[in-house]
Amino acid sequence: MYVAAEGKDYRTVWVEGAPYPPVVHMIDQTKLPVHFEIYASARVETTYWAIKDMIVRGAGAIGAAAAFGMAQGFSENQPEEARNLLNNSRPTAQNLSDATRRVYEAAIGSERSVRTAWETAQALADENVEACEKISKFGEVLIPDNGHVLTHCNAGWLAMVNKGTALGPIYNVHHQGRGVRVTADETRPRGQGALLTAWELFNEGVPHVVAPDTNIAYNLQGKGHFGEVNVVIVGADRIAADGSVANKIGTSVVAALAKRYGVPFYVAAPTATIDLACLDGDAIPIEERGEEEVKYLQGALVVNPGSPVQNPAFDVTPPEDITGIITEHGIIKPTTEEILRIKSAA
Ligand code: MRU
Repeated sequence: MYVAAEGKDYRTVWVEGAPYPPVVHMIDQTKLPVHFEIYASARVETTYWAIKDMIVRGAGAIGAAAAFGMAQGFSENQPEEARNLLNNSRPTAQNLSDATRRVYEAAIGSERSVRTAWETAQALADENVEACEKISKFGEVLIPDNGHVLTHCNAGWLAMVNKGTALGPIYNVHHQGRGVRVTADETRPRGQGALLTAWELFNEGVPHVVAPDTNIAYNLQGKGHFGEVNVVIVGADRIAADGSVANKIGTSVVAALAKRYGVPFYVAAPTATIDLACLDGDAIPIEERGEEEVKYLQGALVVNPGSPVQNPAFDVTPPEDITGIITEHGIIKPTTEEILRIKSAA
């Protein structure tokens, strides 16, 4: 997408350099929105750290980074070690282990395994972009003219390879001139909504407001800056076979309150995010992150120093609180029957 400060279009993750091995590049999301910097990784180990330290983050973007990391593993002649390393970087996003599996399986038996690995990784990144385009098209009809959308965390182009999942339909409506306004939840502790979603919407010229997470009920009651919320759209990190959705911590609060106040709640995600091996939400592994993310805000202590804190990165929204799931093959209900049907179409 277009980056205002640089005046050109970027993907979140890409490769440069020829012929083999190319260098993996990514926008350093830990520096945004203050600094726009590119992080270059020439080895699988630094790609692993980029994912773990959230230089690249968001389910689809870490899937693409892990795919290229897997290709680096083939270049370094250590595919098994690379796959284990990458799979242990962040546990919740299904796109990550799905990406390493696909690159590994395509390349491992191949005569030209290094080339096959890089080509498969590139195809996977391109597929992510195509899926977002289709999700955006299916999702745009859910937003009325001059509508108001509430979103949680960042499920924009920074979270995928381009365009985004939850923000994709918003960009379409905005570029069609139909008018759309967005409330972006701040998303403590890391503030992906306040920092990244706001930066994306600002660059694209989409009218928006950032709201602290404590405003969720207030907004869904229609009392916020833009008034009545027409629809909530969020992304997903893993979708279980029963339609349960793991997404950024706090998403299940938004869903429960959306139901309480009669606001439709949609999840936008490619079918690569569906994990049929997880039969229900309890089977989804939830990443626990370090206490410093809660205790400090931009380096300043914001919690009583002696008190312990908790920091789960995701929570699970039950299917009964979800109106529908927007995939690249259409919008489905969060039921096992529909999940199986859409996964087999992939
Ligand atoms: O911890 P993050 O920033 O990687 O979490 C990101 C989210 O939870 C997004 O909402 C999610 O990846 C869905 S959008 C691809």
